[in-house]
Amino acid sequence: MKLFIDTADRNEISRWAKTGILDGVTTNPSHLSKQGGNMRAVLKDICQMLPDGDISIEVVEKEPQAIYEQALEIAEFAENAVVKIPFAEEYLPIINRLTTEGVALNITLVFTPLQGLMVAKLGVNYISPFMGRLEEIGVNSTNIIQDFVSMIENYEFDTEILAASIRTLMHWQEAMLAGADVATLPPALFEQAVKHPLTEKGIRVFDADWKKLGKTSLFD
Ligand code: E4P
Repeated sequence: MKLFIDTADRNEISRWAKTGILDGVTTNPSHLSKQGGNMRAVLKDICQMLPDGDISIEVVEKEPQAIYEQALEIAEFAENAVVKIPFAEEYLPIINRLTTEGVALNITLVFTPLQGLMVAKLGVNYISPFMGRLEEIGVNSTNIIQDFVSMIENYEFDTEILAASIRTLMHWQEAMLAGADVATLPPALFEQAVKHPLTEKGIRVFDADWKKLGKTSLFD
């Protein structure tokens, strides 16, 4: 499973990029609005922090032609940029055009496998179903992720399922068990996931037992 970090916070991206577990970053206008300064500089830093990762940068234009032009601008901005476009009927023709032209796309705000099917047919790289936002309206997001995975497998699309809007460790684990290709995670969830009281207790016990031996090195 690829792991992306869902933020534009450069300290958090740098912290988790250092661990080697990150395969990409998903930014969105809400994440960017929390960062100060020049957006070009923020996005440039993010792209450089993970040169081999996929960095999703979302279009902010609304009209299809303007989105098309902005998508090309994003694609040229950095080699590892993936253009994030919200799902909408009026955007399907430009999504089609962009995939034909070889632009890497992540279609966001996707809530049903049928929406997903439409953009998988157009050859997008990633589809982002939003787990947390589905749960907010009482929909079981695990079943939905399983359905997305079945849709991709049934028709052998190359598109990857990127589980997004992950709010809890349970969402993450369920996306993993359902076979999602990618999970994009808020930094706080990485922090929660690495910690376990039994891991910490185990380290303390092993350390105390080793010290009882009074050795100065492992092979004494
Ligand atoms: C994904 O690409 C989105 O940026 C993100 O996962 C949205 O999450 P939210 O529903 O918690 O805002």
